[in-house]
Amino acid sequence: MIYLNGKFMPIEEACIPVLDRGFIFGDGVYEVIPVYSRKPFRLTKHLRRLQHSLDGIRLDNPHSDIEWRDLLEQVIAQNDEDDQSLYLHITRGVAKRDHAFPQVPPTVMILSNPLLPPPAELLTSGVAAVTAIDNRWIRCDIKSISLLPNVLLRQLAVDADAAETILIRDGFLTEGSASSIFVVKDQVLLAPPKSHLILPGVTYEVMLELAAANNIAYKIREITEEELHNAEEILLTSSTKEIMAVTRLDDRLVGNGKPGAKFSELHKLYQHYKATSMRGGIAN
Ligand code: PDD
Repeated sequence: MIYLNGKFMPIEEACIPVLDRGFIFGDGVYEVIPVYSRKPFRLTKHLRRLQHSLDGIRLDNPHSDIEWRDLLEQVIAQNDEDDQSLYLHITRGVAKRDHAFPQVPPTVMILSNPLLPPPAELLTSGVAAVTAIDNRWIRCDIKSISLLPNVLLRQLAVDADAAETILIRDGFLTEGSASSIFVVKDQVLLAPPKSHLILPGVTYEVMLELAAANNIAYKIREITEEELHNAEEILLTSSTKEIMAVTRLDDRLVGNGKPGAKFSELHKLYQHYKATSMRGGIAN
């Protein structure tokens, strides 16, 4: 069951007019919110980032946080799985094709997919990644539905039998095509600073909070391409993949080619944090 413009319906019955600006221009923003045991994880942070994205494209938020919570809870209730991945999508609406903003209501859609944790064997082995030049625009802090560059970059990984493409801009690590990336150097967890060149990952923030709360040494700073290639560990995070170890980069082993100590520690802490937040109700 999905939500579309005020109604709940089976996905097969949902239709969007061909003149929707999401279809014509990719003119919209989105969020992906994990749901564990029927409770949205870190919902306040996702709604704050949604507001940032809407502000970035000058589109009014069609709902208050209370209304969003209510809509999301209704979608969760109408789908079978306890663990879901909610996809929330807002476009500038339906209008005759013209680049200038129209005065029309936005299109609002919420989809639910089953949320499956990464398979155990990938947690044990880690995954492969490739590197590529980050050729996206310079407002990557906006979670825009215009994802053609990300799609093309991610396909480079698929073509190389790898899980993710890690992006380099002007000699520095930015992020993955659909994930945040951390590097371990001298046993310190390094995170690229938030800027207009990366999406402020909700899971990225959880990682830094867990590091701070558990005396794991970390530093937020620019990471060079060379540091990425010589990393002791590389970690990848996202709302749907949680935390994974990258154990091969461009056909070379990362460290000894096995998920490292920082990965194990943070993965354990993340699972524990998730479980305790869920017991306490909707986690923020
Ligand atoms: N992607 N960077 C990019 C470019 C992303 O697309 C994502 C997530 C992240 C991680 O953000 P978070 O931890 O808030 O999920 C970083 C989602 C999952 C997607 O597009 O499907």
